[in-house]
Amino acid sequence: MIKLSDVSYAYPDTDHYTLTNVDLDVPQGEVVGIVGASGAGKTTLAKIISGFIPHVDGGALSGRIEVDGINLPESTLAIAVSHVGLVIQSPFNQISGAKFTVREELAFGLENQGVEREEMATRVGEVAKLLGIETLLDRSPYALSGGQQQLVAIASMIIMRTPVLVMDEPTSQLDPGGTRMVFDVMSKLRDSGITLVVFEHKVELLREHASTVHVIADHQIVASGPARKVLSDPRLEKWAIGTTRYTRAAALAEEKSLLPKSTELPVSLEDSIDVFKGFKNLKKG
Ligand SMILES: Nc1ncnc2c1ncn2[C@@H]1O[C@H](COP(=O)(O)OP(=O)(O)OP(=O)(O)O)[C@@H](O)[C@H]1O
Ligand SMILES: [Mg+2]
Repeated sequence: MIKLSDVSYAYPDTDHYTLTNVDLDVPQGEVVGIVGASGAGKTTLAKIISGFIPHVDGGALSGRIEVDGINLPESTLAIAVSHVGLVIQSPFNQISGAKFTVREELAFGLENQGVEREEMATRVGEVAKLLGIETLLDRSPYALSGGQQQLVAIASMIIMRTPVLVMDEPTSQLDPGGTRMVFDVMSKLRDSGITLVVFEHKVELLREHASTVHVIADHQIVASGPARKVLSDPRLEKWAIGTTRYTRAAALAEEKSLLPKSTELPVSLEDSIDVFKGFKNLKKG
């Protein structure tokens, strides 16, 4: 569904590459997580996958980028946005500025597509319910808290029903409750067949919701694989992303020979329980 081959990119007026030789292959219907330290290039990659680079930011882009059968750099932004939606990092900037209420804001993209009024109202109702923002519909998009704006920004992209959705740190403004809800929404979207790419720092939640994870560091993708394997990689410390307490505790237990060296390290609490179960069986055997 998303295929990047040997992609490198430098912003305009810079003398260095922000990303080099990136390969990425995301099958249809997968939830893929991408982690990286601040400044690693997550937003840059999010913009490449959604066509904003090169169509808005310009710069020097090379390699092949195909999303939903479209060669993005050779296409236009208007075509790109009908295949892939981008929830941008700062929710405030996602708000159009053209509308007085959240209801109108959510309908804005559909209006531009010429969707019928009745269908528009149905879809606004559905997406508002999905994200628990029904009570905000008649408020001004500007009179909301950062967290509420973030939910509106996410809703305004989900409503477009693009086959691919890219989310750049979609829970940065949210409290733990809001964060969990957005991750649950991601699971529902996956069940509906959408392909999701999520740029996130929250390792434990990614473990729960993403099937595959990629790590960006040193301008490259430095690790890729199943979520548990990649997110328990001790090198995440070196890459300034960090591992969870469950990973660190198990790694220490391995070091002290309290766990067999071959243990697949846990990322979440559920993983840890699996490790304990495996250990119990081993002792019996
Ligand atoms: N428009 C621009 N022109 C030049 N350099 C830029 C531009 N935007 C970003 N950069 C640089 O590119 C690098 C990667 O930035 P990017 O925003 O992609 O990182 P990030 O991983 O999203 O960081 P964060 O976690 O802080 O959001 C940084 O060194 C940044 O300063
Ligand atoms: Mg960013």
